[in-house]
Amino acid sequence: MGARFQAAKITDTVYWVGAVDYTTRDFHGYLTPRGTSYNAYLVMADKITLIDTVKAPFRDELFARISSVVNPKDISYIISNHAEMDHSGCLPEAIDLIRPDKVFASVKGVKALNAHFRGGLELTPVKTGDTVSLGNRDIAFIETPMLHWPDSMFSYLPDERVLFSNDAFGMHLASSKRFANEIDHTVLKFEGEKYYANIILPYSNLVLKLLDKVTADGPAIDNILPDHGPIWRRADDIAQVFSQYRTWATQAPCCRAMIVYDTMWQSTDRMARVIAEGIAGTGVEVSLHSLKASHRSDIAKEILDCGALVIGSPTINNGMFPTMADVLSYLKGLRPRNLIGAAFGSYGWSGEATGLLEGYLTDMGIEKAGETVTTQYAPDDETFERCYNLGRSVAETLIRKCDE
Ligand code: FEO
Repeated sequence: MGARFQAAKITDTVYWVGAVDYTTRDFHGYLTPRGTSYNAYLVMADKITLIDTVKAPFRDELFARISSVVNPKDISYIISNHAEMDHSGCLPEAIDLIRPDKVFASVKGVKALNAHFRGGLELTPVKTGDTVSLGNRDIAFIETPMLHWPDSMFSYLPDERVLFSNDAFGMHLASSKRFANEIDHTVLKFEGEKYYANIILPYSNLVLKLLDKVTADGPAIDNILPDHGPIWRRADDIAQVFSQYRTWATQAPCCRAMIVYDTMWQSTDRMARVIAEGIAGTGVEVSLHSLKASHRSDIAKEILDCGALVIGSPTINNGMFPTMADVLSYLKGLRPRNLIGAAFGSYGWSGEATGLLEGYLTDMGIEKAGETVTTQYAPDDETFERCYNLGRSVAETLIRKCDE
């Protein structure tokens, strides 16, 4: 099986030697219906260098692709740009096989890798501005803390203007194609946005600073080689991905609303649909997400295209519906910005859910755009009227905000 896994040539010097995970459908709680890839790269300089490894179950694929280009024992250096196990999962085996002269990681990467693998790895720390000579090439390092973990860093090959961006500018997309310009752009936009929303969103301020750096006084870039999904090699594709990242990181108010709710005996569901009518009646586009049908990671994606989040839940056992607790805990951690919102729900006798929903709106910095609507047992006409008016109030507030 091994000899059939070949490396892919990316530039004169760089080969892709990663693994494609066509069947994974869950990446720490994020649904990945199109699978993913764990990209690793081989720099064929005088000092041959491996950049990152792959998730542990794919070690044979990594080693086979490396062996299609070079005897692994001829590799001089390994660079670990990120300690998360999708990239470092078989680092110890790679070190055992290759016996490199040095293994480089950021200062925090050295600590994280040794903590994860319980010590014993001989790692050389590097920091922003450090350069290592590979003989006929140099490689430089740029720390990018929190993109995606504290240890994350980029590597940069100035001679070929290649940026190894690790998690940044990636996406969960399995493909037999290696380059973005070979893949349908609507798929790239969808999966890129979903990845940003679920992985990068909490660190949007850092993204904006990074974009300022790489687009103003940063390194010249002809190729972006991320650790997930396709490689960006054309100037217009690189400009497009930078522009998308700036839009997603800025989260300017957007005149679209979403309603996220769950329901027990359809009271909250019926309220949600009337609120949606109130929003839609103003001309504002609205989407409705019952948690019986939508997954948290798809809701996270859509929030990037929305300016209003309306949340609803029945009360169960003195709390909110557990699916709503799941989604709100997840969304709160992703720290979306510039949202307005509202809450609604139904109850039988105690009615705590809507108060808890309001607490989430406050904690997430979401400006309330209408009075919470609560109903006991089943909604009546007066409740539906309040739901409709709540929808209108949310939409009118959103329109004003988008016009500012
Ligand atoms: Fe792809 Fe943060 O690991």
